[in-house]
Amino acid sequence: MHTPTEHNPAGVALVTGATGAIGRAIARQLAGKGFEVVLVCRDQARAERAVQEIRQATGNEQVRYELVDVSRRAAIQALADRWPGPLHVLVNNAATTPRERQETPEGIELQFATNVLGYVWMTQAFSDVLKASAPGRVVNVASYWAGDLDIDDLEFKQRGYNNGQAYRQSKQADRMLTVALANELQPDRVTVNACHPGDVNSRLSNNLGFGGHESPDQGAATPVWLATDPAVREKTGKYFEHQREMRDRFAENKLEMEALYRICLGY
Ligand SMILES: NC(=O)c1ccc[n+]([C@@H]2O[C@H](COP(=O)([O-])OP(=O)(O)OC[C@H]3O[C@@H](n4cnc5c(N)ncnc54)[C@H](OP(=O)(O)O)[C@@H]3O)[C@@H](O)[C@H]2O)c1
Repeated sequence: MHTPTEHNPAGVALVTGATGAIGRAIARQLAGKGFEVVLVCRDQARAERAVQEIRQATGNEQVRYELVDVSRRAAIQALADRWPGPLHVLVNNAATTPRERQETPEGIELQFATNVLGYVWMTQAFSDVLKASAPGRVVNVASYWAGDLDIDDLEFKQRGYNNGQAYRQSKQADRMLTVALANELQPDRVTVNACHPGDVNSRLSNNLGFGGHESPDQGAATPVWLATDPAVREKTGKYFEHQREMRDRFAENKLEMEALYRICLGY
């Protein structure tokens, strides 16, 4: 599907949160399909283990990691600045659900910074390389568990912080921003779609009080399908669950979507 090169016949893919339950499975499945895969992680020991496990499981040696805190814009920009070549697939997957309200060193509420701004900053920082490598695909791992967005209080400065509410807001924002980013990148043959991955037992879901009845590989199936399948090559700005396009009521409020995107670009 992607322009092949001698060293990466399927293309180059970047996966954030690739030491987590779903992200690691996404990275492994993409490596299994022949992609050169870069795992964006924040913990070196976990990153090294994930790279080894994926290389062994797939026989694909073109797997490496980069240490980046995706809640920090400067760290993302530094990664984009040192990126060595093309990029065909970007999977924004890293997310966090702290039980107490936390802030980044820049003073941004941590779920908003990681789960929302991290997706926008990654896509913006890599948009030039994605366009230059087109056709390209961005997949935003969101959730069906979404809602509660308050555009006047995105950082829970007025509302009392609740990690479930902050998480639901962040996943609603991911779905809305998918449309804004898709509109921006469509002329340059880069698609942007959002999905619910599945209910998977993970640190993130445990923090929210949930377990999960699907395996990490099942959770990775829809993101990987969106990243690779010829059937969705032309789809952009859409939301999917279990490899099916769904109506997304959050994406229908165009004014709020545009306002949210403007706010995010201002950070
Ligand atoms: N699990 C579910 O049932 C479920 C359902 C719907 C949607 N989702 C979505 O699926 C995605 C993956 O979730 P998961 O269940 O696999 O959670 P997870 O196992 O807790 O993985 C989250 C990943 O994000 C990374 N991360 C968090 N903050 C980061 C930061 N500031 N910089 C870089 N990386 C950071 C974590 O790194 P560390 O390994 O260093 O902690 C971890 O690798 C999320 O977007 C989530 O919203 C999950």
